[in-house]
Amino acid sequence: MGKLLQLRIGVRPRSVKTVMVMLLLIITLGIISSGFETRDDVTSTSLPADVKDSVASVKAFSIVYKVLMNPRCMNCHPSGDIPLQGNDSHLHTMSPKRGANGKGLYAMKCTNCHQPSNTPGMHTPPGNPKWQLPPADMKMVFQGKSARQLALQIMDYNKNGHKNKAELLEHARDTLVKAGWNMGQGRPAPPIAYNDFVKAWDTWINSGGYAPGK
Ligand code: HEC
Ligand code: HEC
Repeated sequence: MGKLLQLRIGVRPRSVKTVMVMLLLIITLGIISSGFETRDDVTSTSLPADVKDSVASVKAFSIVYKVLMNPRCMNCHPSGDIPLQGNDSHLHTMSPKRGANGKGLYAMKCTNCHQPSNTPGMHTPPGNPKWQLPPADMKMVFQGKSARQLALQIMDYNKNGHKNKAELLEHARDTLVKAGWNMGQGRPAPPIAYNDFVKAWDTWINSGGYAPGK
C-alpha cells in the first residue's frame, strides 16, 4: 500500500505535465473546430449581421425576380421600343412605339386603346390610368436580364427612375405594379401572390438590396 502511494507520488510530476499538454491540445482543437462550425453554417446566429442580411436579401430577390420576369411585368419592360403581348411575350400587334415619354407615338398612343380599367372580354386591351412604357431616357429593361443584372439596375438611383429607398419600397404598392395581378381575361397572374411579392420586395430592400452572385 505504502509502496504504491510512493510510486504514484513518484510519477506525479510527469503526469501533471502530460495532463496539461493534453488539456491545451483539447482547448486548441475545440477553438479550431468551433471556428469551422460557424463558417460552414451560414444560418448560425453567431454570424455578423451583414452576412445574414445578404443571405436573406438574395433569397428574397429570387422570389421578386420570378415576378419581374413574368409576362405580366416583362411585357411592359421590353429590351426594344415596342411593348410585348401575351403569355409568350410576342411583339405587340400593330407595333405601338415607346416614344420619348413612353406613352406612344402619333396616332398610336397607349391610352387610345388602353382605358383606365380592363375592357371586358378576351383579347381586349388591359387597362390602368397610368398605362405606358418607361420613358426613352430610362427604359428600365427587364427582358433578357439575369437576376444579378436586374437587382443591380433596380438598386441604381440613376437607372430606376431616380427612386430612393422609400420610393422603391413604395413602388411595390404602385397601381401599375398591382395591375399585374388584374390584367383581365386570359392573362394569368404572376406565380407569386401579390402580398407575398410585397413581403419579398420589402425584405430584399430592407436587408440591403443585395444582388445575387450571378
Ligand atoms: C391600337 C390599339 C392599341 C394601342 C395603341 C396600344 N395597345 Fe397595347 N394592347 C392592345 C390590345 C388589343 C391588347 C390585347 C391583345 C391580346 O390580348 O391579344 C394589348 C395588350 C398589351 C399588352 C399585353 C399585356 C399582357 O400582359 O399580355 C401590353 C404590355 C401593352 N398592350 C402595352 C401597350 C403600350 C405600352 C402601348 C403604348 C406604347 C400600347 N400597348 C398601345 C391594343 C393597343
Ligand atoms: C403598363 C406597363 C407596365 C406594366 C404592366 C408593369 N410596369 Fe413596371 N414600370 C412601368 C413604367 C412606365 C415604369 C416607370 C415609372 C416609374 O418608375 O414609376 C415602371 C417601373 C418599374 C420599376 C422600377 C424600375 C426599375 O427597373 O428600377 C419596377 C421595379 C417595376 N416597374 C416593376 C413592375 C412589376 C413587378 C410589374 C408586374 C407586376 C410591372 N412593373 C408591370 C410600366 C409597367
